[in-house]
Parts: sequence; structure tokens; C-alpha cells
Amino acid sequence: MRTPLIAGNWKLFKTIGEATALVNDLKPLVASTSGVEIVVAPVFTALSRVSEAMAGSNIHLAAQNCYWEEEGAFTGEVAPKLLKDAGCSHVIIGHSERRQYFGETDGTVNKKAKAAIAAGLTAIVCVGETLAEREADKTFAVIETQVTGGLEGFSVESLTHAVIAYEPVWAIGTGKTASDAQAQEVHAVIRGLVAKLFGQAAADGIRILYGGSVKPDNVKGLMAQTDIDGALVGGASLKADSFAAIVNFAA
Ligand code: PGA
Repeated sequence: MRTPLIAGNWKLFKTIGEATALVNDLKPLVASTSGVEIVVAPVFTALSRVSEAMAGSNIHLAAQNCYWEEEGAFTGEVAPKLLKDAGCSHVIIGHSERRQYFGETDGTVNKKAKAAIAAGLTAIVCVGETLAEREADKTFAVIETQVTGGLEGFSVESLTHAVIAYEPVWAIGTGKTASDAQAQEVHAVIRGLVAKLFGQAAADGIRILYGGSVKPDNVKGLMAQTDIDGALVGGASLKADSFAAIVNFAA
């Protein structure tokens, strides 16, 4: 009942030309894919051109970040409604790299996610523990704080426009993926938490993506887990064939 969502996070890679070429390569490889929501997230400067390149396809566009104000004297920021204007339907919020290098907190994640949803975007809210936190047995506590803080003040209705991405920081870009069981364990905890905060129906409906070194050869095992509803893919999304193989995990 939950449509799987596979999102490619292109991070700080690819010029406009490279990004449009990638989406043009991807289109035929996923054209016959159904029952999977396919999303790619290029850098801001490539968004509107990639949007033009993907027009009429089954690929959706995401930004990698946004601000929470609609407009004003906020030099360097981009508002959710401008992302919509550029063709986005989704936005990634609170990726661990933003938390680690750009000072994002559960509070800023919460404001951004609310503003994104108010502007009509789907917010992909990222959570995940560091290696030190996992080794100190703090994984569940960290996840609980991040999910509770990130979704604070959400209505059940607004939650239907949110997606949670569980990305253990130690698995991002390291080639070291969480095992299927490790990922499922945390996903089940997140769904239980959403049930406690927003009710069972909301928990049953929300999609929880796994991220962290997802590749064509490990996606099937991850997607077979009860509470894993998709993937947020970094490195393997930068090439059309590997990303298409992940999108087509069920083939
Ligand atoms: P990775 O990145 O697939 O390269 O580990 C995932 C992410 O950062 O979203």
C-alpha cells in the first residue's frame, strides 16, 4: 500500500550539462517502470533545466535543501515556492551532511519541513546516528530525538506529505551499508514512534527510506524488509545504469 520511493541525491556533483545528460540517459531505462516513485535531486543551479529535460517522464525533481521563509532579506537562501517554480515536487531536508557541516538542527529541520509542505512540496526528512552514537548504544535515543524534533507540531494531514529517510551516518559514502536486519530494526522503531506520535494510520502510511551505500547488489535485500519503503541513493545515483538498476529493484 506504500508506493516505494527511490531518490537519487546528486549532492555537489554535475554541471547543468552533465545533469541534463544524466536525466536523458535515465529516462529510457526507467520509462516502463511502474509502481515506483522516482526522484532525482540535482544542485540548485541545474534544477530548472533538469525539470525541462524530464518533462513528460515518470521522474520527479527534488532540491537538496531549502529555507523556511517565503521571501525577504535572506541573502543566499532559496524558498520552497521558488523550488516549486523551478519544477520541484520534493525536497530533501536535514541530510546528515547539512547537519554536520552547516549547523542544521532538529529545530531548523522542523521549520524547513513545515515550510516545504506548506508550499506544496513533499519533504524527505533525514535522520541517522553517527558511528560513535551507535557504538555507545545511543542509536534509538538519537533517532527518537531527531524524529520527534523534526516532526514537531505536524498535523496528521501534513505528515502525509512527509517521507522519513533513515541514513546511518557511518554508512554514507563509505561502502559500508547497514545490514538488512540493522536497517529494518531502526525502521521499525521509527514507524513505532510515528504511531505513538500521530496514530497507527499515519504510521502505516508514511514511507521510510533507507540511505547509506545503497547499490544495485544490496537494494533487493533492503527493499524486502517490512518497514523499508525505498532508498535515498548518493554515489550510485550518479550513473544512469546503476541508478536505474536500483529503481528497477523489483524487476
Ligand atoms: P551514499 O549516499 O549512497 O553515497 O552512501 C547516501 C546519501 O548521502 O544520501
